[in-house]
Amino acid sequence: MKINVNGRITDPREATLSVLDRGFLYGDSVYEVMRTYCGVLFARKAHLERLAHSADALALALPERSVLDREIDATLRVAAHEESYCRVIVTRGQGPLTLDPTTAEAPNLVIIVKAYEPFPKRVYEQGLRLCIPGVTRAAADLAHPSVKSGNYLSSVLALGRAKQAGYDDALLVDHQGFLTEGTSSNLFAVRRGQLLTPPLRSGLLAGVTRALVMRLAEDSGIVCQEQRLAPDDLFTMDEVLLTSTLREVAPVVEMDGRPIGTGKPGPMFARLRAMVHAAALAQVQATMEASSS
Ligand SMILES: Cc1ncc(COP(=O)(O)O)c(C=O)c1O
Repeated sequence: MKINVNGRITDPREATLSVLDRGFLYGDSVYEVMRTYCGVLFARKAHLERLAHSADALALALPERSVLDREIDATLRVAAHEESYCRVIVTRGQGPLTLDPTTAEAPNLVIIVKAYEPFPKRVYEQGLRLCIPGVTRAAADLAHPSVKSGNYLSSVLALGRAKQAGYDDALLVDHQGFLTEGTSSNLFAVRRGQLLTPPLRSGLLAGVTRALVMRLAEDSGIVCQEQRLAPDDLFTMDEVLLTSTLREVAPVVEMDGRPIGTGKPGPMFARLRAMVHAAALAQVQATMEASSS
């Protein structure tokens, strides 16, 4: 693993920031997680656009896009993994001990690159067992869930409760009890060959993989509707899926101890995962061709 702190790339133990950094003190930061296919970052543009959206929403100054690109590339090069996980974090920086964001000095840019570790095969072969621990995703107001900020406490709390109860992961709900998303993934359900997913207005991250799945579904004639889903609706579905950059598409086979559909990964999961994987490979192939011409 290599870590880049404001342009200095080192091993993790030498990578330091002040404890007065506002990312540490208040979660006053934004971040993105990307991964490579064939050594090339997938959906770099979409992730960096979301980083800019998050930063805008928090009125946090991002380094120039050219600086982000240069530092990301340098860190990937030095880390030199066959496939990489890449986390880009921008904090508002350090300052006096006050909430007032105008007192912050300069933003800190931290890039963490480690080897990409695929999820265990059993996730895709046997499916995930989830629970709904009743944790509410942040209200869709100031810290809107579409902002990928350093404050992930609702996800941390929900995942902690799920793990303690012996589940793989958890789903979060909105203030009215409707499902929003997973702790680090978006939610899809399959009913009679059609896809359903909670709408962004329910308060959830606009996942890059979620958007890709919706586009691929449209291209291949699979109807996909944004629709509010109650927890009990899941038991009327043929399949339930999670999507994220790191997982691609993962099947959910059980919720709160009750099976979903057949209780096994289904055909829509297999189809969408293959489509997402192929689309990612095609996109990095096109990036490689464009940069070599
Ligand atoms: C809360 C949350 N929802 C959804 C996602 C999936 O987003 P993406 O597909 O852009 O990785 C993530 C990814 O980290 C997340 O943290």
